[in-house]
Amino acid sequence: MTSDIDVVGELAGKVALVTGAARGVGAATVAWLHARGARVLATDLRPEVDDLTARFAGVSTLVGDVSGEDTAARSVAAAVDRFGRLDILVGNAGRSVNKPITETTAADWDELMSINARGAFLHAREAFRVMREHGGGVIVTVGSFACTVGLADAAAYSASKGALAQLTKVLALEGGPYGIRANVVAPGVIETDMLDNFRADSREYLRSFGDAHPIGRVAQPEEIAEVIGFLASPRSSFITGAVVAADGGYTAA
Ligand SMILES: NC(=O)c1ccc[n+]([C@@H]2O[C@H](COP(=O)([O-])OP(=O)(O)OC[C@H]3O[C@@H](n4cnc5c(N)ncnc54)[C@H](O)[C@@H]3O)[C@@H](O)[C@H]2O)c1
Repeated sequence: MTSDIDVVGELAGKVALVTGAARGVGAATVAWLHARGARVLATDLRPEVDDLTARFAGVSTLVGDVSGEDTAARSVAAAVDRFGRLDILVGNAGRSVNKPITETTAADWDELMSINARGAFLHAREAFRVMREHGGGVIVTVGSFACTVGLADAAAYSASKGALAQLTKVLALEGGPYGIRANVVAPGVIETDMLDNFRADSREYLRSFGDAHPIGRVAQPEEIAEVIGFLASPRSSFITGAVVAADGGYTAA
């Protein structure tokens, strides 16, 4: 078993860019990477992302909309300008819309494809260009169990997460010769603010979501950050092009 002492400094010298870092899985991932010595550029649409600089010495931030081509270019350039390189991209920013198909609007569809799929693509493309020049890197995208199964009342979300599985495979194919690995984490339900849509009765919603997972509960953001961090580290050196389930067994059936 690895102790905390063993992992300190494990990622010293590495530079990471994490999108959607203001809270939830993104913030937990910043903490995970920072604890292992990586220098991190944390980005988000929410200005609260700047609070991370007080919590984690050496973490730098940038505010922007992940779906913007300019944000992706600015973020990757900022990581290189501020820290000299880019080794790890965690494409985590995401949103959900939960409506039956007949109530899902074209605007809902465009918004989720834009944030969840286009945002991940743009950041991966910009990071890929830099990593190719610098001899390699790792791209970890945060998908969902909706990478592989459909979620009722979440057509746009499911489609956008399905796109990430295919994007990841192409990144792995094209990245292999340059030492670039790419994987997508496919979590089940996580207890984060993203669940606000469902939060009529907090105990009831957590129990009902938890019951849908064979493990009998939902995930904590730190449990997903652990998987993201593993995939971002050299410990996963032979894993690329994979959809890595972290879903409490949800997709096991
Ligand atoms: N919570 C779950 O049950 C769950 C399950 C599976 C996958 N995921 C995925 O995990 C990732 C993180 O979600 P979370 O649960 O931590 O949710 P969250 O809402 O707590 O965090 C998402 C972050 O993304 C940011 N974001 C949203 N739109 C953005 C935009 N246009 N530009 C920049 N930043 C933007 C938000 O401001 C927020 O800080 C998402 O990709 C989500 O789809 C979540």
